[in-house]
Amino acid sequence: MSNELIYLDWAATAPLSQVAFDAMAPYLTPGFAGIEAGGGNANSLHGPGRRAFKVLEAARRDVARAIDGRPDEVIFTSGATEADNMALLGIVEGVLQKRGSGFGMGQRALDPAPSVVVSAIEHDAVLQAAELLRRRGIEVVCVQPNAGGFITPEALQTPLEKAHDPVLVSIMALNNEVGSVMDIPALSRIAHEAGALFHCDATQALGKVPVSVKEWDVDALSLSSHKVGGPKGVGALWLKARTPFAAQIVGGGQESDRRSGTQNIAGVVGFAAALKAAVDAQPQQSVAMTSLRDKLFAGVTALAGVEPVVDLSAGEYGPHIVSVLCPGFESETLILQLDKRGISVSGGSACASHSLDPSHVLRALGIDRDRALGMVRFSLGSETTEADIERAIAAFGEVLEDTWN
Ligand SMILES: Cc1ncc(COP(=O)(O)O)c(C=O)c1O
Repeated sequence: MSNELIYLDWAATAPLSQVAFDAMAPYLTPGFAGIEAGGGNANSLHGPGRRAFKVLEAARRDVARAIDGRPDEVIFTSGATEADNMALLGIVEGVLQKRGSGFGMGQRALDPAPSVVVSAIEHDAVLQAAELLRRRGIEVVCVQPNAGGFITPEALQTPLEKAHDPVLVSIMALNNEVGSVMDIPALSRIAHEAGALFHCDATQALGKVPVSVKEWDVDALSLSSHKVGGPKGVGALWLKARTPFAAQIVGGGQESDRRSGTQNIAGVVGFAAALKAAVDAQPQQSVAMTSLRDKLFAGVTALAGVEPVVDLSAGEYGPHIVSVLCPGFESETLILQLDKRGISVSGGSACASHSLDPSHVLRALGIDRDRALGMVRFSLGSETTEADIERAIAAFGEVLEDTWN
């Protein structure tokens, strides 16, 4: 077997796309040529600054169009982690400020505490931001998924009715570990009926399922560049006009006072170009990817000792994620053995891959700790081929046999 790289970890990050690279190149040219081309500081008054501003605003328009939003509602960030943090911390603080209260006034000012509602299978960027809110006196209510990894409207309804003064609900569009696709319009309707705003982390949904802030009727949406072939360290928070919001990163007042810091021109240009290409290609690509996903799912779950985490034929799942359990194995061992054969996969979210804790998503699905430790996630992308899938299935079979013996 050749050691040519078979990359099946696209949910962790996608390789930089050619279209993003080409779009960014002029702004990364060294010396004054890059500044002349529009890679200056978009907040400067001189010609190069004004050119950078034009480039920045064109990227903002492209990002807005890709999600059906307005350009002035797009706030560029360093990625979805920052966007998620900003959404939870910034919206809750904004709502409290509007009411004339706020953090830092002590627990009694928030008594009885307003609440935020998050799902148990959110990315840590949401869960840990919720934890910060809890420490600031906000009550955090957690909604559990069903065994298929879905947060159903019914599951949201009861905790939301019981929650005192729900300010914000945050539920992701597509789960990064098992691929479940949530019914965001139904969930956001329930949140709004309860008087809460609705934030959605759409990081894994972009380019995989249609994303429309209008059709979904959300108030805030987190986006990341590097999952769609853009550069890492760039993303956006789309924030519906007039949504209460208190800036969490303060300084020069960039991004209409909502997120300070000199904008990363090359980064946002690469992000916008990659996002546009991913969204344009999504309808055909999702069909092709789903058939590869199904082939991979059938192939790996047919191997002795491998079990599906969820049944991909029993609901709507993203076209790019296949997660399995290998009871009796530790995922780290399997990942490293596959890596030796040139196959890159992960054991859940990349951020958690250096820890031996089982995935909180799998635990929320009711999978016990020991079994959850044997999780392997394969994730596909725009360049995955049938030959990659066949080699991955064969290599996985060999690894399981070798490791077992
Ligand atoms: C669902 C989800 N949210 C947020 C993030 C964080 O994105 P970023 O790497 O842009 O900070 C990820 C990345 O793994 C993700 O999958």
